[in-house]
Amino acid sequence: MFYETEKNDHGLARPPFKSIAVPRPIAWISTLDAEGRANLAPYSQFTNLTFDPPYILFSANRDYDGARKDTTNNIELTGEFVHNMVTYDLLDKMNITAAAFEPGVDEFEAAGLTKEPSVMVKPPRVAESPIHLECKYVTTICLPGTSAVGNADIIIGKVVGVHIKDEYILPNGKIDIEKIKPLARMGYSDYTFIEKVFEYVPSDAAHDEGDRALGLEGATGAFGKK
Ligand SMILES: Cc1cc2nc3c(=O)[nH]c(=O)nc-3n(C[C@H](O)[C@H](O)[C@H](O)COP(=O)(O)O)c2cc1C
Repeated sequence: MFYETEKNDHGLARPPFKSIAVPRPIAWISTLDAEGRANLAPYSQFTNLTFDPPYILFSANRDYDGARKDTTNNIELTGEFVHNMVTYDLLDKMNITAAAFEPGVDEFEAAGLTKEPSVMVKPPRVAESPIHLECKYVTTICLPGTSAVGNADIIIGKVVGVHIKDEYILPNGKIDIEKIKPLARMGYSDYTFIEKVFEYVPSDAAHDEGDRALGLEGATGAFGKK
């Protein structure tokens, strides 16, 4: 089948698009508002952009009335946010934090989550989460939509601090992803989580060239200065 997105003539009972870029890890973003009140919300239109230094982005659609999300407003106001990794065990609590609470409502409290101080930024971390990225705001890219909700604010942040709970670090220095079971979004109301990791180290010459292999691993700081 083929459909044009502007015509949306896919003819399927359910919209297919969000099932195509899958699985999407879920940015679980904690921020502070102008009064210092905590906010927490999930964003699955999320990815890392580069690694030396590390940058991430997530995309916040506007609300049905065209208003920007609390997360967007808080980040632009304070210049800081934290990404807290969502795991399979945290699914229900993550979902509670997605409710359309009024600005100023603390979703940590609504979901029964514990705040843990950050090191380099002011927004607190989700203590129950195994990995946190402390971020400084870089910029917002606004994409025009075909509806109020379709308007999207893409937030880019520079990762300035990384927390990984020691219990999830393997003796070989890798993160124990199978133990963490990171949760990810797919289309519809479907989710998945990572329970199987396999290693693929190609033996061809292209992958043996030192810098290239380091780049594939994301070895921040391993390269000569520009
Ligand atoms: C798993 C999941 C993923 C979500 N991903 C997004 C997303 O990528 N973009 C978005 O605008 N909203 C997303 N939402 C909805 C927001 O979390 C929701 O609008 C929330 O109320 C925003 O909170 P805030 O206004 O405090 O930022 C997602 C919800 C869930 C449950």
